[in-house]
Amino acid sequence: MNRNFKYNRLWLPLLIVALWLPLSASAMEMDDCLGCHSDSDMVGDELVIDEGKFTETVHAEMGCVTCHESVTEEHPDDGEAVSNSSCLDCHEELGDEYMATSHADNATCSDCHNPHQVHGLNTVSGPDMNAQCFQCHEGPDVMDSHAEWLPQASLHITKVPCITCHTAAEGYDIVLNITQKQDKLKGYRFSSHADLKEYSGEKEISRLIDIDGDSHISLTELRTFNLNPAYSELELGGTLVPNEMSHNLSTLDNRYDCTFCHAAGPGSMQTSFLALPSEDGLYQRLTVEEGAILDTLYGTPNFYMTGSTRSASMNIIGLIIICGGFIMPIGHGTLRFLTRKNRKH
Ligand code: HEC
Ligand code: HEC
Ligand code: HEC
Ligand code: HEC
Ligand code: HEC
Ligand code: HEC
Ligand code: HEC
Repeated sequence: MNRNFKYNRLWLPLLIVALWLPLSASAMEMDDCLGCHSDSDMVGDELVIDEGKFTETVHAEMGCVTCHESVTEEHPDDGEAVSNSSCLDCHEELGDEYMATSHADNATCSDCHNPHQVHGLNTVSGPDMNAQCFQCHEGPDVMDSHAEWLPQASLHITKVPCITCHTAAEGYDIVLNITQKQDKLKGYRFSSHADLKEYSGEKEISRLIDIDGDSHISLTELRTFNLNPAYSELELGGTLVPNEMSHNLSTLDNRYDCTFCHAAGPGSMQTSFLALPSEDGLYQRLTVEEGAILDTLYGTPNFYMTGSTRSASMNIIGLIIICGGFIMPIGHGTLRFLTRKNRKH
């Protein structure tokens, strides 16, 4: 060790000088770039980058110049336009998938993703994903056109993000979120980190449900949360999210089929997570005990994925559900009738 240390002390400065010489002609460091580009007084609103949000992304690890190769030491005084690398250079597989869809004529990668604020599927909430689509697809138009065949279109679109029906993923996860109980007419609002801090105080917000702190939610923990009178203003709601991100953006025929979601076969749609908001508006997932979500009485009283109870091991729970007024959606009318009846309770 000692010997190597001496050796390093001799060679390291030389090595650095040797490397620095050819590089110094081109590169500023990320901090230099952000010195100007995180300050709208220096570069104007159009060219400003939210430093806090950028540095937390995986893209920040590459630095600015990886994607803006042509930038020179004299920038911005050189008056030269700065190059932007193409997303397709690095995201080849996913890029090919998207570019093969007709939607690629309508929207580029950067129309949906801010290259300086990229996130993975698992850290974004359903409503935030939908916000990307609403930039171009007007909310009221989407609701109207879907309501022609889809009952409770706005409920569906809150609980089922656009990409669940409009991309080709193989399977789905049920993701639970804590929501603020409010007037049904006002809709459905995800609790923010600050909302939940009011309940958890000094403790981590995950401890509101994850009582033993093992980062896994059991049926007992769900039940304890739901029955705790201190949390009567909070409610668990579920969303149905693809378990992997496909960019095959299109309209899939089987999504007309109500039974695709409401009467899926045994074993499907039982992988579930609890998504907890972090301060920066992203989400972190904890796993939920398999099957717990199907216990509509105590697991998730406000999430009625009726069909998913078609599992042999869930007979007892199924029975409870039937007694409670739920059966398989035989048809659209039956389901609406039943859920109306249920809502009276
Ligand atoms: C992963 C690649 C990538 C990284 C890393 C990256 N950028 Fe960008 N940047 C882009 C792309 C692509 C565009 C063009 C976006 C468009 O066409 O809308 C862009 C656009 C910009 C713009 C023009 C204004 C805007 O927001 O569209 C500025 C300024 C900028 N980048 C600065 C930076 C700085 C400073 C850093 C480092 C802190 C950085 N970029 C890191 C890919 C990147
Ligand atoms: C001294 C402040 C300053 C620094 C440092 C700086 N920029 Fe800029 N940058 C600017 C200004 C001002 C503009 C607008 C120039 C213009 O409109 O001609 C700009 C424009 C840009 C643009 C958009 C240019 C275009 O062609 O539309 C990009 C991309 C960019 N900078 C990236 C970077 C990157 C990457 C770095 C670090 C390697 C960096 N800048 C460092 C001030 C700075
Ligand atoms: C220089 C290479 C490079 C370029 C150019 C690039 N990316 Fe990435 N990107 C990566 C790497 C590396 C990762 C992390 C591993 C992965 O998810 O593939 C990543 C991850 C992502 C993620 C997921 C983030 C997460 O937290 O999981 C998104 C979304 C993304 N990139 C979008 C884009 C978009 C949109 C563009 C074009 C504006 C782009 N990338 C350009 C290298 C690049
Ligand atoms: C129509 C909108 C849209 C377009 C266009 C789009 N994406 Fe995405 N992409 C999404 C959504 C929605 C997600 C889920 C995460 C999120 O919301 O940011 C996502 C996620 C990703 C991820 C993370 C995947 C993961 O498993 O977590 C990468 C990487 C990515 N996109 C790259 C790209 C690239 C590259 C392009 C262009 C070829 C592109 N996207 C075009 C909507 C889009
Ligand atoms: C930059 C604008 C833009 C964004 C963002 C965008 N779209 Fe589109 N999309 C269009 C345009 C333009 C069309 C073609 C006209 C139309 O059908 O409205 C289209 C068409 C569609 C179609 C019907 C065409 C087909 O191939 O079946 C679907 C489905 C669709 N978009 C879904 C989405 C989803 C889901 C998102 C979000 C993940 C999204 N779009 C985001 C612009 C956009
Ligand atoms: C429950 C599944 C489902 C959800 C959720 C969903 N869609 Fe659709 N969508 C469909 C189906 C099926 C069609 C084809 C309907 C038709 O042909 O009349 C369609 C058609 C479309 C079209 C083309 C026809 C039109 O209405 O203009 C667009 C654009 C579209 N959807 C966008 C969206 C967006 C944006 C979202 C999210 C805000 C969304 N969809 C959510 C299933 C869904
Ligand atoms: C992509 C999956 C998916 C498809 C396709 C789908 N649904 Fe749903 N549906 C859901 C989800 C998720 C909910 C919300 C469950 C909850 O939160 O209680 C829901 C809720 C409902 C509700 C309201 C239940 C309540 O709580 O009031 C009715 C009624 C309904 N769906 C009927 C239908 C009909 C009829 C079709 C076919 C035209 C259909 N759904 C297609 C996933 C889907």
